[in-house]
Amino acid sequence: MAPPSHMILLTLKFTNSFLSMIFKSAKTSCNGDYVTVNASNEQCVADMEAISKSIDQIYIMQVLEPNCGISSRKPKEGELNHTHFLTQLGEKSAYFCHEYNFVFSEIWANNKDVREALRVREGTKGHWVRCNITNLAFTKDVTSTVAYHQNLTNTGLRALIYSGDHDMSIPHIGTQEWINSLNLTLEDPWRTWYTDGQVAGYTEMFTNDDFDLTFATVKGAGHVAIEYRPKECYAMIDRWFAHYPL
Ligand SMILES: *[C@@H]1O[C@H](CO)[C@@H](O)[C@H](O)[C@H]1NC(C)=O
Ligand SMILES: *[C@@H]1O[C@H](CO)[C@@H](O)[C@H](O)[C@H]1NC(C)=O
Ligand SMILES: *[C@@H]1O[C@H](CO)[C@@H](O)[C@H](O)[C@H]1NC(C)=O
Ligand SMILES: *[C@@H]1O[C@H](CO)[C@@H](O)[C@H](O)[C@H]1NC(C)=O
Ligand SMILES: *[C@@H]1O[C@H](CO)[C@@H](O)[C@H](O)[C@H]1NC(C)=O
Repeated sequence: MAPPSHMILLTLKFTNSFLSMIFKSAKTSCNGDYVTVNASNEQCVADMEAISKSIDQIYIMQVLEPNCGISSRKPKEGELNHTHFLTQLGEKSAYFCHEYNFVFSEIWANNKDVREALRVREGTKGHWVRCNITNLAFTKDVTSTVAYHQNLTNTGLRALIYSGDHDMSIPHIGTQEWINSLNLTLEDPWRTWYTDGQVAGYTEMFTNDDFDLTFATVKGAGHVAIEYRPKECYAMIDRWFAHYPL
């Protein structure tokens, strides 16, 4: 039996105040730095653990979608086990997992007919995987590219930065903080943008002489915004290419 609605409200209120309590505590104990946590700072470590625990069942690529955890298979573990996947699909068929798309793309791209249609010459490409991590065996790591972005703001280039507003892996507020650090001039302040008469997200525009930067959130979208809101993202880039305001 479903709990009465005032009980749900109470639970929500409790959860919210609990989260805001640990967040406040972490802000103080970790001194606002949640990336390089000092292991001997016990309060900070405890707060960070409490935060991790409270969100570890959330699908961080789109916080409203089910967390299925099926795409954790790394390409180096070999080719996709279709039997295993289909078994999981059967067990979880009560809802659609976004990650199924990644599996389907692998099945699709390795299909003989698809390859023929795409004119992939036989023998030129082996088994295709979506994210071949072993291809990323870099020996050098650039920890910050902000200095490069800063230099680009002194050119005549244009930039479009967009962010799904339901993505928790790279949340839009972090992107906005990064843009603010570039010290640009706010030309077109924060406002809604539309597709089909509906709010598709929020946008703002910055300039520095001949350089301009448009930032847009995509309402309801997750990490790879176009995967979740293709129509809205298409309208966004179409307008931007045409030098129209979003
Ligand atoms: C880590 O925390 C300990 C205990 O609070 C402190 O003594 C130490 O200076 C800190 N180290 C760094 C690198 O901040
Ligand atoms: C593929 O998955 C099925 C079901 O989980 C399992 O029985 C089988 O051993 C797996 N095959 C390989 C080659 O790992
Ligand atoms: C992944 O990349 C490595 C290095 O380029 C390559 O040797 C390997 O065959 C690739 N694996 C797949 C499944 O494409
Ligand atoms: C930015 O531009 C300055 C001046 O041209 C140059 O000295 C500097 O190396 C550039 N920084 C980066 C990260 O490219
Ligand atoms: C932006 O402005 C702030 C405050 O004036 C300054 O501390 C910071 O270094 C500037 N950032 C860049 C990248 O120029």
